[in-house]
Amino acid sequence: MSHLTIRPGRSLRGQPAVPGDKSISHRALLLGALASGTSRISGFLPSEDCRATLHCLRALGIGIEETNATTLLVQGRGLWGFSAPAEPLNCGGSGTTMRLLSGILAGQSMTAVLSGNTQLSRRPMARIVDPLRLMGAKAADTEGHAPLIFEGGGLRGLDYTLPMASAQVKSALLLAGLYATGSTTVREPAPSRDHTERMLRAMGCQVQVVAAADDGGPQEGVANSITVLPCQPSSLPEIVVPGDVSSAAFLLSAAVLLAGSDISLVGVGVNPTRSGALDVLRAMGARIRMDHRRENGGEPAADLSVQAAGLRATEIGGDLIPRLIDELPLLALVATQAQGVTLIRDAAELRVTETDRIDGTVAELRKMGAEIDARPDGFVIRGPTPLAGATVHSHGDHRLAMTLAVAGLLASGETRVLDADCISDSFPGFAPTLRQLGAEVR
Ligand code: S3P
Repeated sequence: MSHLTIRPGRSLRGQPAVPGDKSISHRALLLGALASGTSRISGFLPSEDCRATLHCLRALGIGIEETNATTLLVQGRGLWGFSAPAEPLNCGGSGTTMRLLSGILAGQSMTAVLSGNTQLSRRPMARIVDPLRLMGAKAADTEGHAPLIFEGGGLRGLDYTLPMASAQVKSALLLAGLYATGSTTVREPAPSRDHTERMLRAMGCQVQVVAAADDGGPQEGVANSITVLPCQPSSLPEIVVPGDVSSAAFLLSAAVLLAGSDISLVGVGVNPTRSGALDVLRAMGARIRMDHRRENGGEPAADLSVQAAGLRATEIGGDLIPRLIDELPLLALVATQAQGVTLIRDAAELRVTETDRIDGTVAELRKMGAEIDARPDGFVIRGPTPLAGATVHSHGDHRLAMTLAVAGLLASGETRVLDADCISDSFPGFAPTLRQLGAEVR
């Protein structure tokens, strides 16, 4: 297992490429596979997680041609075109692979098993299997966890209120809804990333979204409802995956915090259900410019540029949380450099991501001198606090590893991030990208 060594950062300058969006790359593969005809994906993220989806689909009989690392041709075989896998489908550490694929497998008439690595096998899966069973799926979990076993469907539509704002659960149910008789409605407590809905629409399926306020007035615990009808998605000649705003956030935050920095990032996804971190950085005092807004396949993208700025504390909670759930360890670090006390609440979901990101972030940032406390549902951070280089551990979590690397750029002395291989789960090329911007990372 390799580690990263980071020396205190000079200003960051340049225009690095941002890797493709992880969530959209998964969906492009999955929807491309069940579309009728061939879809070309460009800007694909060749990360460990997305490649897990690719391998699972190949094991289900889908032809996927790799023109190069980021351009793929997916030979969709229609909703029912999968063949029974000879072995369990290995999702590696990818929650998105396991949960979204569950929605598709629930609708098939064959047996398939989904398994994952130790980290993924610790994550909750009853949240997927329970509602799929309500739709009629013959599905079993292993005491609420992977391995999951699907034995064919005969699905009926469902009206289901999600207990948590989870785009993975929502997406699994919408994908299962394509196979169901009647309509499937998912009600979510706060709007979560809507890439599945946008891509389904681009592929010709009807997806209706209604805000609870326009749906008979406020409903306890429901922000909006999403309804899908049974539908065979059409292939898309070209799915252009935008740059991942979650990966961009590491570069933007480092640039905001390192005096004299000035970076620009071309073609980053700015879907409002994903870009909460940009709103928070702006509320804290960062000046982030968004130019050349464009749209492809229903997904908005823009060029982002940022310079270093002094920051003030903020409060992060409520409906904002699903819009920046993956950026919270990083924002906790940013808050250590902001003037005042930052409170992050309503984020208990962080305890069931790749690792417990609340305890992990607190334990590691404290080693560097941060004044940060854990709450059951978030963090309290006092700033600004000078950070000191230290040997810290990623806990095998890519977002924590990159957060600690950015912390290393801000710290005095040298920082070593142990077990840093996991960064390739979402941002292969992270260290070379930082080096290209002028950072000392090896
Ligand atoms: C994702 C949804 C989020 C996010 C994850 C990717 C997706 O998870 O944390 O990194 O692609 O749908 P939840 O659905 O568990 O909130």
